[in-house]
Amino acid sequence: MRSEHGMAVDLGCGPGPQTLALADMGFGTVVGGDTSQELLDELVHLAYSRSAVRTHHGDLLDVLPEIAGSGEVDVVVCMRDTLLHLPGMDAVDSFLSQVSASLAAGGTLVLTYRDLTRQLEGTDRFLPVRSDEDRIMLCALDYDSPETVTVNDLVYIRTSDGWHLHKSSYPKLRIAPDALVARIDAAGLTVTHHAPDSNGMWATVACAQQ
Ligand SMILES: C[S@@+](CC[C@H](N)C(=O)[O-])C[C@H]1O[C@@H](n2cnc3c(N)ncnc32)[C@H](O)[C@@H]1O
Repeated sequence: MRSEHGMAVDLGCGPGPQTLALADMGFGTVVGGDTSQELLDELVHLAYSRSAVRTHHGDLLDVLPEIAGSGEVDVVVCMRDTLLHLPGMDAVDSFLSQVSASLAAGGTLVLTYRDLTRQLEGTDRFLPVRSDEDRIMLCALDYDSPETVTVNDLVYIRTSDGWHLHKSSYPKLRIAPDALVARIDAAGLTVTHHAPDSNGMWATVACAQQ
């Protein structure tokens, strides 16, 4: 993985845990892209002394065409389920074609995502996400179709006048990890790592031809 002076792109960066790590690895330019300006502002604040970090506000399908020419990017990361926010498998194929076109020879794509193909039943559909003394976050899953699941986020936030519940919901794609590998191959990339971690989050890494 080329780092010094190279370019890395973090799609769906949020407040930028991967953007900051890539900057600390020594990439000359690291672009964090996200649809949330609030999270990008947080990234800018966290990145204060890292001159390599840039932000790009917009959809993840717009970032690569807008910031990079063919073969100019050394690393693309899209982590922690961001890929599953795409609207369908055609969009996943467009995304993989864009990555394949923008990666330099030997460049790397890193994806991490959950396998949501197995349908959870009954109370197993309610999942703890994270909590601390002021915030409790959980989600409930509704299976709409073989292609998508609706994620209902329930966040209790403690304020001076008690606990308040915030609700939101959005669809996520149900991508079978091995089907994703076939699509990555079809986009002309070579998968070099494909396995779940101990929490069930899959990591799939692919390289552009040398
Ligand atoms: C689960 S978070 C992951 C954030 C970060 N990569 C991490 O590991 O903490 C998913 C991120 O993707 C962003 N996102 C969702 N849909 C997107 C889209 N279509 N284009 C760009 N970003 C998107 C969300 O705003 C959110 O910051």
